[in-house]
Amino acid sequence: MAFLDQHKKLERNASLLLGASLFVVLIGGAVEIVPLFYLQNTIEHVEGVRPYSPLELAGRNIYVREGCYVCHSQMIRPMRDEVERYGHYSLAAESMYDHPFQWGSKRTGPDLARVGGRYSDSWHVQHLTEPRSVVPESIMPPYGFLEDTPIDGQYIADAMATNREVGVPYTDEQIASAQADFLVQADPEGDTDGLLERYPGAHVANADELQGVSEMDALVAYLQVLGTMVDFSTFTPDASR
Ligand code: HEC
Repeated sequence: MAFLDQHKKLERNASLLLGASLFVVLIGGAVEIVPLFYLQNTIEHVEGVRPYSPLELAGRNIYVREGCYVCHSQMIRPMRDEVERYGHYSLAAESMYDHPFQWGSKRTGPDLARVGGRYSDSWHVQHLTEPRSVVPESIMPPYGFLEDTPIDGQYIADAMATNREVGVPYTDEQIASAQADFLVQADPEGDTDGLLERYPGAHVANADELQGVSEMDALVAYLQVLGTMVDFSTFTPDASR
């Protein structure tokens, strides 16, 4: 066939083949990449997803600093074994305010995308302080020092402003009340009305022996919000399929 004869030319001339391949790949690349510049948003907004409260954000920063992502993923894949173990598969919107995201790539420990509300605050404190006291076979390192490290949220407004730079919609009001919200979320006796209005569903730390806010309180507040923003109560995994 005449057409195939033409192709012989391409196959026998390495430079021509290289040039033609590049051309084809460029078209494919442009088709995939160009629309991304014109789309307003590639992530569908889901009701309930909100930016982290100041205390949760501080906890998230500690999570990143301690490298928890090295052993824990935060992404439940849409496969039956994952959904049965961890709950509804992760939605893109659930990590839309994560900079950087914490999907992780390794699971030495379990996925944490929906660990929020699964255990009490005191369980987390006990587990983080001495993992083997609650899970004897655990190989997780202890993080008890977090409880001895006080934080006061002095710089949390700056962290929020930085997040705003990269697209997290913190309002001026949220940034102005950052430190107050930070402190009140760790105070079971505090007036949390403003906090809960700005951050619906924020989990107020249930610290029994409150001696100021520690890094432990912030980390636990973060763990307790993971996967709880979207209401999946109407969802039942279809096990019949
Ligand atoms: C060396 C790997 C490793 C690191 C680092 C690590 N973990 Fe773990 N983690 C594990 C393992 C293994 C388990 C399962 C056994 C257990 O529950 O202790 C676990 C369990 C957990 C659980 C209980 C999850 C569940 O669903 O039962 C939480 C919460 C947790 N880790 C939080 C953290 C946080 C927060 C950090 C960072 C401060 C962290 N881990 C760092 C290995 C790790």
